[in-house]
Amino acid sequence: MPLIKVDGQEIEVPAEYTLLQACEAAGAEIPRFCYHERLSIAGNCRMCLIEVKGGPPKPVASCAMNVRDLRPGPEGQPPEMFTKSKMVKKAREGVMEFLLINHPLDCPICDQGGECDLQDQAMAYGVDGSRFKENKRAVEDKYIGPLVKTIMTRCIHCTRCIRFSAEVAGVPELGATGRGEDMEITTYLEKAMSSELQGNVIDLCPVGALTSRPYAFQARPWELTKTESIDVMDAVGSAIRVDTRGRAVMRIMPRLNESVNAEWISDKTRFIWDGLGAQRLDRPYIRRNGRLESATWAQAFSAIAEKTANIDPNRIAAIAGDLAGVEEMYALKGLMDAFGSPHIDCRQDGAKLDPAAGRASYIFNPTIDGIDTADAILIVGSNPRQEAVVLNARIRDRWRRGKVKVALIGEQVDLTYSYDYLGAGPDTLSSLVAGDHSFAETLAGAKRPMVIVGQGALARPD
Ligand code: SF4
Ligand code: FES
Repeated sequence: MPLIKVDGQEIEVPAEYTLLQACEAAGAEIPRFCYHERLSIAGNCRMCLIEVKGGPPKPVASCAMNVRDLRPGPEGQPPEMFTKSKMVKKAREGVMEFLLINHPLDCPICDQGGECDLQDQAMAYGVDGSRFKENKRAVEDKYIGPLVKTIMTRCIHCTRCIRFSAEVAGVPELGATGRGEDMEITTYLEKAMSSELQGNVIDLCPVGALTSRPYAFQARPWELTKTESIDVMDAVGSAIRVDTRGRAVMRIMPRLNESVNAEWISDKTRFIWDGLGAQRLDRPYIRRNGRLESATWAQAFSAIAEKTANIDPNRIAAIAGDLAGVEEMYALKGLMDAFGSPHIDCRQDGAKLDPAAGRASYIFNPTIDGIDTADAILIVGSNPRQEAVVLNARIRDRWRRGKVKVALIGEQVDLTYSYDYLGAGPDTLSSLVAGDHSFAETLAGAKRPMVIVGQGALARPD
């Protein structure tokens, strides 16, 4: 690993690191708007400027240059960088001044206030006045769907949202039109976004141009109590943070977990809290004369007791929902035991998962981060794009890095990556096992094959 010097401190870093990563490894803080570890490098905000000794006589965008591009000193001294020099400070102040020329100063009414990168970095590099006397540029807001709200005058053209939708989500529906002052971020013909991961652009946008529509004007970040949790909206179990005010859930944000969801969450996970507050079944109902009538809990329990008092144990069964807690299910099992009924289940869809086959028959054995090293992936009876959004993004990420073959048996759908379509139904499965498909060879020759079996295959009579 090459040896470099950052602010006088010597450190060894991998040659493929960007100068920004190298400076961070040495403990220096580099401001940035466009750079993001999981997206391609755009190098268009110029906030990450640093000084490189022996380099060009101007500040260098540290995110857009690699350590391997640095040249040693005349006597072979390690390349040297400065992140706190006068030149760097002046350069970053210049960039900030240009950014603020057109950015509206509406922090008090902006939903990003208190968690805005531009606001934070203006504290360090902003100046207290503007030399810009002309009119500020204004951009018309775009309606891009019910989830992401736009105030496009605030956009600083970092293009993170564009790169995310094209690279991670695999639905390239955001883009930029025009150049310079006329550049605008928009969807094609101002169509609503359709990606199931679109909420992540809210977190990625370093300013308040893209914010959460359901959360708009609901709360300020400093009023919220943050509780770390696990998402239950799909079987992935993404790491989330639930932000609450008093008893009310105000929003759900992703947490970093490299083994599960990296830093993305699906829109279902992110926006489900909206449904917690509106149109809930908030009281029991009793059916009388074919009509449901609202009742008190005492009335509901006495109706249950009355109906079940002399029940034949073979005429009563219990089925637990996917979102029921362990304690509730245990209490239900206790109740059924008291009736003498053995009829309990949690598989509402009739999935042929046999508890006798053990836990290994239903957990995701290869692990989610195992996808990163798989060299052949067969999906059977599943649409991971709908059933496990973040997992699908992981398969896409693996597919983008190449040297992997993906095949699907089941409904032919757009999964955001290309795959070999083998067919649907058990005959295809049998012919694959018999070696009639070329993918059988791929699977046999793979070092780390992965088979993902979905509910479509499990919930069938055969
Ligand atoms: S909308 Fe936000 S994320 Fe997209 S380019 Fe503008 S500032 Fe960047
Ligand atoms: S972070 Fe380097 S140019 Fe934007």
